[in-house]
Amino acid sequence: MSSIQPLQFRAGPGGHLSGTLRVPGDKSISHRSIMLGSLAGGTTRVSGFLEGADALATLEAFRRMGVVIEGPDDGRVVIHGVGMDGLRAPDGVLDLGNSGTSMRLLCGLLAGQGIGVTLTGDASLRSRPMRRVTDPLARMGARIDTSEQGTAPLHIRPVEGLYGIDYQLPVASAQIKSALLLAGLYADGETCVTEPAPTRDHTERMLQGFGYPVRREGARICVTGGGRLTACELDVPADISSAAFFLVGASIAPGSDLTLRHVGINPTRDGVITILRLMGADIEVLDRREVGGEPVADLRVRSAPLHGIRIPEEQVPLAIDEFPALFIAAACADGETLLSGAEELRVKESDRIQVMADGLSALGVDAVPTPDGMRIRGGAIGGGRVDSHGDHRIAMAFAMAALRAGDEILIDDCANVDTSFPGFAELAAGAGLDLTVREVQR
Ligand code: S3P
Repeated sequence: MSSIQPLQFRAGPGGHLSGTLRVPGDKSISHRSIMLGSLAGGTTRVSGFLEGADALATLEAFRRMGVVIEGPDDGRVVIHGVGMDGLRAPDGVLDLGNSGTSMRLLCGLLAGQGIGVTLTGDASLRSRPMRRVTDPLARMGARIDTSEQGTAPLHIRPVEGLYGIDYQLPVASAQIKSALLLAGLYADGETCVTEPAPTRDHTERMLQGFGYPVRREGARICVTGGGRLTACELDVPADISSAAFFLVGASIAPGSDLTLRHVGINPTRDGVITILRLMGADIEVLDRREVGGEPVADLRVRSAPLHGIRIPEEQVPLAIDEFPALFIAAACADGETLLSGAEELRVKESDRIQVMADGLSALGVDAVPTPDGMRIRGGAIGGGRVDSHGDHRIAMAFAMAALRAGDEILIDDCANVDTSFPGFAELAAGAGLDLTVREVQR
């Protein structure tokens, strides 16, 4: 899908990554800080907030629903919570841009507010499946209209009330889980969600941080409606999904030695470290600590020879956003890497299986897409031109590929890098990647 302002990355071949850097704040945690801070009683202070377009879309949505939010100012945000029932209907449609997390979590959060809200987004977001949240929410009594294809725009209608359900998630998705738990705060009785495999648990952790009880029995997570959230202080760690590009870049580029500071290493997000280590990567986890209910560490990564593996399927949900970067690692590994059980990649900001396979093939890599994954045989990466299809993570992954390419790589449609990683090009160039950005005519 095309983004608004066409930007192209030019990544020159070779080089290595070194130094110490901190990537921007965690996107998932930043979204949730605005959502829960807005519904809380009192003033929530956030530091380390991601000032990327996706998290800013959530912030703007809550401003439009009457929440006074100061900032962001160098990652600091102050949210003057309106309480559980204090949101008011926005005047007009809420445009959430490229952000699937904003849209799906807001469906749940707004379903029981008793206000009418219309949610829309860019062409990519308007093509993504929404019935996965609107169907179970309907079982709770919500009324949310989708297009005939089950996509946005979504019209959330006021209803009298919601009731708790016991729901078995058909896919391992933190967005569906979170939407239902957030709706559950407004439901009569208990709302329980059972996951087929563990997914990121930031909603559960943050609810507890705001003083809201969450019951967990194995894979089943429950909340009881009618409680209250109390404002708190939040320190958002650096996003492991953004760190992933540097973990891969430094692993594949000989001579690299890079330290990434204050990275969130929540065990439901650390699949990229596990998978890279299985491939032979040299990643040290230093100074483990806990910040605001989330585990954090510094990560030191040095280049190492990688070898192909069969990626364990249980790691897939724990690394779901990191496969564009991991495919680049696989292209640089000795032998074959096989991914399966990852059909969810086809409904992300782009079809990440097809778009990555096309880009890798354009660079001369032997990459064969399958319905639920990819087979990649490592080897030489050539130069060439690839299309990111407006997908931030595809753009950043191919930029890192240049570290091992024989010639320059041109990457089209990169403006959406700003959705999750503002300042990526400058930070990567500072660490040693030969990366420049230019505006192009359509
Ligand atoms: C997210 C959950 C994941 C992930 C997305 C962020 C979240 O999506 O891909 O980038 O913050 O809950 P799914 O729940 O669709 O897997």
